[in-house]
Amino acid sequence: MSDLVRYEVRDGVAVLTIDNPPVNALSPGVPEGIREGVERALTDAAARAIVIMGGGRTFIAGADIREFAKIVAGEKPRLNLYSLLEFIEDSPKPVVMAIHGTALGGGLEVAMSGHYRVAVAGAQVGQPEVKLGIIPGAAGTQRLPRLCGVVTAAEMCAFGEPIDAAEAHTAGIVDAIIDGDLRTGAVAFAQDALTRPVRKVRDREEKLGHQHLADLRFRVGKRLRGQTAPVAAIDAVEAAANLPFAAGCEFESKLFNQCLFSSQSKALIHIFFGERAVAKIPGLGKDAEILKISRAAIVGAGTMGAGIATCYLNAGIPVALQEVTPAALDAGVARIRRNYESSIQKGRMSSGEVEERLNLLRPTLSYEGFEKADIIVEAVFENLELKKKTFAHLDTLAKPEAILATNTSTLDIDSIAAATGRPEQVIGHHFFSPANVMRLLEIVRGKKTSDSVIATSMDLAKKLKKVGVLVGNCRGFVGNRMFHEYMTQAVFLVEEGAEPKFVDDVLYEWGMAMGPLAVGDLAGLDVGWRIRQEFRNLEVPGVRYPQAGDQLAEMGRYGQKTGKGWYLYDAERRATPDAEVTQIVVEVAAEHGIARRAISKEEVLERTLLALVNEGARILEEGIALRAVDIDIIYVNGYGFPAWRGGPMKWAELEGLKAVCERIRKLGWEPAPLLLTLAARDGKFDA
Ligand code: CAA
Repeated sequence: MSDLVRYEVRDGVAVLTIDNPPVNALSPGVPEGIREGVERALTDAAARAIVIMGGGRTFIAGADIREFAKIVAGEKPRLNLYSLLEFIEDSPKPVVMAIHGTALGGGLEVAMSGHYRVAVAGAQVGQPEVKLGIIPGAAGTQRLPRLCGVVTAAEMCAFGEPIDAAEAHTAGIVDAIIDGDLRTGAVAFAQDALTRPVRKVRDREEKLGHQHLADLRFRVGKRLRGQTAPVAAIDAVEAAANLPFAAGCEFESKLFNQCLFSSQSKALIHIFFGERAVAKIPGLGKDAEILKISRAAIVGAGTMGAGIATCYLNAGIPVALQEVTPAALDAGVARIRRNYESSIQKGRMSSGEVEERLNLLRPTLSYEGFEKADIIVEAVFENLELKKKTFAHLDTLAKPEAILATNTSTLDIDSIAAATGRPEQVIGHHFFSPANVMRLLEIVRGKKTSDSVIATSMDLAKKLKKVGVLVGNCRGFVGNRMFHEYMTQAVFLVEEGAEPKFVDDVLYEWGMAMGPLAVGDLAGLDVGWRIRQEFRNLEVPGVRYPQAGDQLAEMGRYGQKTGKGWYLYDAERRATPDAEVTQIVVEVAAEHGIARRAISKEEVLERTLLALVNEGARILEEGIALRAVDIDIIYVNGYGFPAWRGGPMKWAELEGLKAVCERIRKLGWEPAPLLLTLAARDGKFDA
């Protein structure tokens, strides 16, 4: 018998325990072990019923995602899960699935092959396959609607969000919630089940009546724009209502395979493993001490400072928040309150919870509380001299072991660190606006930053519910350095004749969360303009510089906050194109001798996306990013790059690096040396 599934008999019930840490994925040996266990129980006179459960922290987290790449590469699937599940379901002895932790994907599909499901209150169940660009591939779309109805099943399969045990119980997916020890409860449930005839889920048709899925299709089209798997998932669930079980399974299997072989699935699986890979820092000593962060202090209560404070408060960490004037401090506190009010309105938090969090906030005009902080985050204006002065001051206030973090988005961490007597304690914590919403935290290591400060920052990112990505120090680090190239092309395209809305629409339709010019308006055109002023001395003579954005900023058109930027904004911040912008751009183009012409969609995509890729490759070669996947995770979590395209580097790989080099040359640019090297040997970035 496979050592991945343990067999024992308790009070007349065979208990099969899956033991494949960390998450009991259905890796090679697990399905075989389940089959052997059920076979043994069927012939074991001492066992009248069967319980299947997970050992360790969870039930079954689904198929082993690593196996998919092998199938796509041409390997034959090891075994047919459909027939295993039918074999379990055909058992004449009642089968009870006992769920704790998560029953996800193939895990829930296994659970639904049992005649009953019991769960502890903290358990979750779901069909999250769409998040990997696929759909359930072991009859999940056919059994789930038989338990909870077509609409609920389609919703679960299309969005992939898990539900908790109580909801699953109400929906009919789980038959009982077990208080106390799960195994004992499940064995008792199984003994009780002996008094009833076994009923197969696949035979249950009472919830399969005709259902309207038009509303769901509409919401999926909006929220998961561009993705194919969610639509396929709805189609497959809908088929359950229209086809016999076996034909429904065949239909599901066909769609599953189409999805599995798509580039969307390759991209999303890359992102799944990428999010976990970025947490692992090569070369960082395992013994690097993780410092305890029990108190934080923040300098600056502007948009960023207030957003960062909200993140700490959400993690239950008390925050001292400093500003220079009472008005600025009040405005910062009001900002934090506004963030929470919208959470209350959306039903995400109760007013009691909000008050609890706000009680952790200590606004101050005098740096009171800074001496006790384990970490101080600086979020002042983006100006190197100001930041250096601030750090020199913080150095005198902070306790010796405190971490000093700067939220700079572009400036030199080493210069800032050098303003203190503790450069090894200084690090960049680059949050993205709105800081309490965006998942990315770029963690920027300086030359002298200690391993312990890096390890603590990575750990802290998790506590703040962020995806922390460690990057090296250079102008703009990874995210903004690449974004600069991307934005530059967007502005060039506008100067050469494209309307701002055209550029934004093309990139939005391609999958970006927002077009680059709309992003500029959201962030404030003054921000980029001030940064460019800061670095004006680094401009290379003869190299074209994007003029139009600066022109708008100089005219006070800062974007949303001033009601106009690349667009005009109404009171609800809805954007409309502005003829004045076209006029300004035409004048800028004339002044700088830029010929205006018709610009195609293809040109917009080629120039903006390949600019990202080419700069990304340079960053990788310089070691500013540890791996290509780190860049992808930064772009997906901080810049609205569609996860289903894999991030800029994976996208380039899926397009083919050789072809990408040729396309870059066609634009008249030089491909980054790393791209050329990899293209020449048909290589991959993180191979
Ligand atoms: N296959 C392979 N490895 C998996 C895995 C899976 N299904 N689920 C998790 N892992 C790995 C992770 O990569 C991670 O590995 P490392 O430690 O080497 O980085 C490790 O298990 C622990 O995972 P997490 O760090 O994510 O642990 P967590 O406790 O934060 O979360 C979880 C646990 C909620 C189960 C989360 O891992 C998760 O969501 N997993 C994916 C679940 C999923 O998508 N299942 C569907 C698979 S597709 C399918 O089942 C198709 C089908 O129809 C047959």
